[in-house]
Amino acid sequence: MNRTTTSVAALAATALAGTVWAHSGATGKVKDRMEAMKEMGKAMKSVAPMMRGEANYDPDTVRQAAQAIARNAGDALTAHFPEGSIHGPSEALPAIWQDWDRFEALAMQLEVTAQGLEGAADNGLGGMGTGSGGMGAMMGQTGGGMMTGNTGMMMGNSGGPVVGMSAEHIAQMPADGAFAMTAQVCSACHSDFRAEDD
Ligand code: HEC
Repeated sequence: MNRTTTSVAALAATALAGTVWAHSGATGKVKDRMEAMKEMGKAMKSVAPMMRGEANYDPDTVRQAAQAIARNAGDALTAHFPEGSIHGPSEALPAIWQDWDRFEALAMQLEVTAQGLEGAADNGLGGMGTGSGGMGAMMGQTGGGMMTGNTGMMMGNSGGPVVGMSAEHIAQMPADGAFAMTAQVCSACHSDFRAEDD
């Protein structure tokens, strides 16, 4: 190899270094799904203050957030998790592939609750979620407020459904109720399948 070839090769390697992580093989999968999860996180954050009554309620923003979540849920979500794809900074747990049925069910339920939230956007707030202390409180909420009647259906015993409602049914709820349900699905999956629980 002469000097010119070597330096060209070195240059090419340098130029590629920045993109390799994002685009090659399984590492790329991890990066892609982190991006998808972050998009859902942003969508949830964009509406959380409205759901708490701390920002003006805007149905369009709620619809857009719900669509962003629905788009990244279901099959789109499970496609980001080929067997054994735990690399580098991944927080995915091997339990995903040991209990794939539940993982997949949660991904599907996220799609259902997000579609329900989209349908519920025009319903506005039920008023009962207000003052619950924010998303963290809503996720962990066990009593009080509008989720009380639903706790039996939510966070089902292992293997059971987290939310046993159809999107059409959820769409009849106040938006903050549909939002809380959606958040519970995020949370249920993270507590079982993600190392860094939230
Ligand atoms: C079916 C399971 C499942 C559902 C449902 C789910 N997640 Fe995740 N989420 C994961 C797993 C697994 C990881 C860890 C991925 C990794 O690090 O490889 C993760 C990671 C994340 C991260 C961190 C991304 C990063 O940059 O490291 C955020 C933010 C996140 N999820 C938000 C959400 C939100 C918001 C929802 C609901 C709207 C949601 N997730 C629903 C499984 C799920």
